[in-house]
Order: sequence, then structure tokens, then C-alpha cells
Amino acid sequence: MHEASRNFPARLPSGWFQIAYSDEIAPGDVKPLKYFGKDLVIFRTEDGELSVLDAFCPHLGAHLGHGGTVKGSEIECPFHAWRFGPDGLCKGVPYAKRQPRKAKLDRWHTKEVANLVMCWHHSGGEPPQWDIPDEIPEWGAKDGTRNEEWTDWETADWIVRSCNEEMGENAVDSAHFRYLHGTRNLPLSEATFDGPVLRVFSATGMETPRGPVDGSVESLGYGFGMGIVRFKGLAETLNIGCTTPIDQEHCHLRFNFSVKKLGGADITRGVGKAFVNEVKRQVEQDIPIWEHKVHLDKPLLCDGDGPIASYRGWAKQFYA
Ligand code: FES
Ligand SMILES: [Fe+2]
Repeated sequence: MHEASRNFPARLPSGWFQIAYSDEIAPGDVKPLKYFGKDLVIFRTEDGELSVLDAFCPHLGAHLGHGGTVKGSEIECPFHAWRFGPDGLCKGVPYAKRQPRKAKLDRWHTKEVANLVMCWHHSGGEPPQWDIPDEIPEWGAKDGTRNEEWTDWETADWIVRSCNEEMGENAVDSAHFRYLHGTRNLPLSEATFDGPVLRVFSATGMETPRGPVDGSVESLGYGFGMGIVRFKGLAETLNIGCTTPIDQEHCHLRFNFSVKKLGGADITRGVGKAFVNEVKRQVEQDIPIWEHKVHLDKPLLCDGDGPIASYRGWAKQFYA
């Protein structure tokens, strides 16, 4: 089924979206990316500045992510060696007497937090209109100091044939947890909508292979792109779920898991594994639903459904 017949939004949403990991882009590295229906190039200058630019060279259209090289604080096109700064401006053409000063590539706004490279996308090309946290305390401080009480990210990712709004609805769809995921209780959750942030808090704990564990789950959704989910109970765990549009029909879903270290490394590993497996199990049950469902503008909701209608009202701001 083509996305047009699935009634997905006509435009890609605005927000902050994960496009890479910081440690994948070392100084001097250049990589091609494809997100937001666009070809992009990501690179880091030798002095450490990260930049994401439109990929196609304004000279004759070469893709800077395929063969482009970092030279000091600039990126050089592989085709005729035009050079661009991290700001996207042309810094020089080695063989031209008159330099094309106006040549430039559009730069995308990026922000690095907890080893995640986040990129701002706006459907109308506007600069960032709201922010995501500057640091994730479980990962460490803004200055790069790590929090040694928590484990490194354990990651997982999927390409899903769906759109952000449909996938994000998962958090407020209370009834599916029991019937699709087989959790024992309908979680008692409350949702609060505050500008671009959607907070969902549930007092019930999480399912484990040994049964449910008492505790709470707090999820903070920063738009559609970044959901910070904290589980508290016998163990404390964190999952940052990031959903990035690739094009109108596909999203790249990444999970970044961390566990608060327990008595011994083996116990921590065991708890981490059980947690990751449970979250993965759930998402792998969601994926076939997401990949085949349609978006109904007027769903037939009933009283146990959770705040789906409020979620949809909140979602509208990301297409403004
Ligand atoms: S196409 Fe990039 S320098 Fe010619
Ligand atoms: Fe789900």
C-alpha cells in the first residue's frame, strides 16, 4: 500500500531528530546521510566542529558525502575541489581567478547530547523553535564528564514503514499494552501536554520474564523525535527512543538503553539484558501493526482508550 492511501500527513513533521552518534563522526570523518527526504552530508572538522549540510555541491552537483574530504576546518568536494566551511559557505575554488563568493550549501541545526547527534527539521525551513535537554544526567554532564553509575548505551535500531505521528501514538494508547503486548494490567497512566513536551506517567512497573516489577514509568516526549523513558522499580533503567523520518513512508527508529549499575557487573548485565529484550519484544509487536495500518482521521474511540484525541491535538503543532 502506498502512503497516500494510508492517509499519512502530507508533510514531514518539525522537531529534533537523531541522525547519528557523535562517536561515529570523529574529527576528519565525512558521511552521507538520507533523512527528511533529503540527501545530506555530515562531517567533523579537524578542530572538532560538527556540521550537517545539504549534500549536493552547487558547482556541478557532486554528493559531498561520497568522496568529500575534510581539509582543516573545511570540506572539499571530490569532483573539482571546491571548499566549503562548516557554515556551508564556499571558501575557495583552487583554479578560479574570480571566486564564487555566493556559492553555498544550506546548513542544518544540530545539537550533540549524550553521544546522540540531534538535528532540527522544520517543514517550512524555520530555525529551532524549541529545545531538547542539554544533558542527560544518567549519561553525564554537559561538559562531557560521564556518570559512572550508569552503563554505556546499548543500542538497537529498525527501519519502519510508517510515520512519526502513528508511531508516537503508542505512548498514549493504553489498551494496546494489554492486548498487543500482553502486559498484565492496563497501565494507569496520566498524560500532560506542555508545549512540545508530552509527559506520560504510569504508576505500574514494568513486565519482566519473572513477572511484573513494581515501580513507575515516566516518558517525556520532545515532539515526535525524542522520547526519554525512565523506569524505576527494582532496577532503574533508561531508554531514549528516537524516531527520525527518512521520507514520507519510512522512519528510522533507534533505541538507546542504559541501566543504573547494580552490585556486580553480572547482575547489571542480566538486568540490562532483560530490560532491553522486553522493550525490543514490544516494539517488534508494534512494527507489523504500524507497517500495515492506515491513519483514521475520525477513529472510533471508547472510554478505556487513553488520551488519543488529546495526543492528536498536540501533534498538530509539528506541522505548523
Ligand atoms: S561539483 Fe563540487 S567542485 Fe565541482
Ligand atoms: Fe506498543
